[in-house]
Amino acid sequence: MSTPAQAQSPGAAGGRDGRPEPFTSRLQRFVWDRRAQSWDHGGVLGLEKIINAVLDAAEVGEGAAAVDLGCGTGQLSLPLAQRGARVTAVDISANMIDLLNQKARAAGVPNVTGMVSTVEQLDLPAGSVDLVVSNYALHHLHDRDKERAVAAAYRWLKPGGRLVIGDMMFGRGGTARDRAIIGSKVTTMVKRGPGGWWRLAKNVGRFTLRFQERPVSIETWKSYYARAGFRDIVAVPVVAEAAVVAGTKPL
Ligand SMILES: C[S@@+](CC[C@H](N)C(=O)[O-])C[C@H]1O[C@@H](n2cnc3c(N)ncnc32)[C@H](O)[C@@H]1O
Repeated sequence: MSTPAQAQSPGAAGGRDGRPEPFTSRLQRFVWDRRAQSWDHGGVLGLEKIINAVLDAAEVGEGAAAVDLGCGTGQLSLPLAQRGARVTAVDISANMIDLLNQKARAAGVPNVTGMVSTVEQLDLPAGSVDLVVSNYALHHLHDRDKERAVAAAYRWLKPGGRLVIGDMMFGRGGTARDRAIIGSKVTTMVKRGPGGWWRLAKNVGRFTLRFQERPVSIETWKSYYARAGFRDIVAVPVVAEAAVVAGTKPL
């Protein structure tokens, strides 16, 4: 059986569904190529907590074939590989993948293969992986592409395989949890003074126009999993807006 690492990076000509790369993902590449050097958690908003929650839910076994969607510089791919998985680490940004490769070499972790691709265009052989994971990346996708990514992950997984997504998960104010998350973000930024107010103005644009940040609620993620065919779907709020949703492809 082919491994995920044998899958081809699709390039701009079109991958899964033969669709060309959308303009918005070219914009994401531009933004993230520039942020690659500075992207590091450094304790930012408890991202290490959500990575640990994804790792726990992944239940990774020695030698498992895993794919990390929107891997950045390897914050999730590297610990997964250190737990014995063979990881295909996928990101739209070549700079992120370069840094991931450097970090893997420096840490002596050979079982990570970086691949430059958009999530939207990525295609892998059906039934070729045991685990698909993602952390804080899929909220950048349009909603229809989030659902397509969940359906694609279902196809790529072997029976019994798992999809585990950690991300900012909240809606536009329809639930008490949404309102608490949005209220706490606004309060934090307002308290920071002019710098925070500027950030608030930018975020209002990003979130309300859904230009770069397109989070959806935990319930919406669960509905994508259910429609794709996943079973045993479990959702866990982790910290602030971060949550993990996991599901299993039936045997
Ligand atoms: C917030 S960072 C998270 C990186 C990493 N998963 C982590 O936990 O630190 C989001 C990542 O998603 C990548 N990304 C954004 N849109 C993408 C897309 N359409 N396809 C693939 N990667 C994408 C960015 O390049 C960036 O590395």
